[in-house]
Amino acid sequence: VKRIGILTGGGDCPGLNAVIRGVTKPALDHGLKVFGILDGFEGLVEGRAQELYNRDVSGILSKGGTILGSSNKGDPFHWPEEVEGKIKIVDRSKEALKNYEAWNLDAIIAIGGDGTMHISKKLSDMGMNIVGVPKTIDNDLEATDLTFGHDSAVFVVSEALDRLHTTASSHHRVMVIEVMGRYAGWIALNGGLAGGADVILIPEIPFEWKAVYDHVLMRNMMGKRFSIVCVAEGAKPKDGTLITKGKDIKRTDPLQLGGIGEYVAKKIAENTGLETRYTVLGHLQRGGSPTPFDRILSTKFGVSAINLVIKKQFCKMVALKGNEIKSVRIQDAISHQKLVKPNDQAVLAAMAVGVNFGVEKF
Ligand code: F6P
Repeated sequence: VKRIGILTGGGDCPGLNAVIRGVTKPALDHGLKVFGILDGFEGLVEGRAQELYNRDVSGILSKGGTILGSSNKGDPFHWPEEVEGKIKIVDRSKEALKNYEAWNLDAIIAIGGDGTMHISKKLSDMGMNIVGVPKTIDNDLEATDLTFGHDSAVFVVSEALDRLHTTASSHHRVMVIEVMGRYAGWIALNGGLAGGADVILIPEIPFEWKAVYDHVLMRNMMGKRFSIVCVAEGAKPKDGTLITKGKDIKRTDPLQLGGIGEYVAKKIAENTGLETRYTVLGHLQRGGSPTPFDRILSTKFGVSAINLVIKKQFCKMVALKGNEIKSVRIQDAISHQKLVKPNDQAVLAAMAVGVNFGVEKF
């Protein structure tokens, strides 16, 4: 192995730069040439890459985002192209392969989520040597115990909840916070638990409105004249008034104006008479510096990925299993999505300290 490419695909995530550094430094020490492919698979199709040297990866450990740029529109197999004013989906995977060959690459390290791993599998089938590194703040990849970026997102949520507590308690309000996570409730669960939320609503446990109203009213009666409600963007009520699919929300109730956070706040205010406000945390959860935990995990992932390449262990993805970094086959990594189970220890611990999940009982 002499020449490798590295790319970052999908949404940005704290820790991407730490992985790039974790791959590049040892690779250069081994005498390999490293090419940073720009803007994910888009750069592979369009032939955009630049050689990376030590100076390029020095000082980036703590930086958010990705020095290589990313894109979630660059799927070589489903490439949107404008033809006579209309968007047509075309297959540009052959151009991706051509560039891989023209650059004389022996392997590519692809850092990304579900989408990136699906594309990597298909490119592997075409003959490219690929090693994957799992990334997502949502933590919804089954093959690894944790993805980097999740801890940083949870840190932001936890800090936001600490700040919201101030206004909640001073003004005796219900404060609703909407957090990311797409179809999974990990960010709401872990962030809510760390930030002391009183109610946590997640997609995996469809909630009953009455249970939410009763819980905040009960807190008021007990003299706790505020509540913090942490809502995952994919959370859904049992009554079917709202069908959410990550950030795609179908509205069946005219009360619903914006995202689920706004909807939940409006319903609580109307049905309890309590003063209520909402905050949508949005991309703040993905931005900025990775936590120390994510810096360490990202570095270990990067170093393990380059070791796999050197050992010619291709079509594998690095994964955290317990305290060790192992590797799994990419096809196994993409077959299951990891969702919160109602009997997850974090759910049980939250319930034990009085958190309500929008249900009376499971
Ligand atoms: O998968 C990461 C994530 O941040 C989700 O939590 C969120 O639903 C989505 O990406 C937002 O995507 P975009 O930045 O494309 O709006």
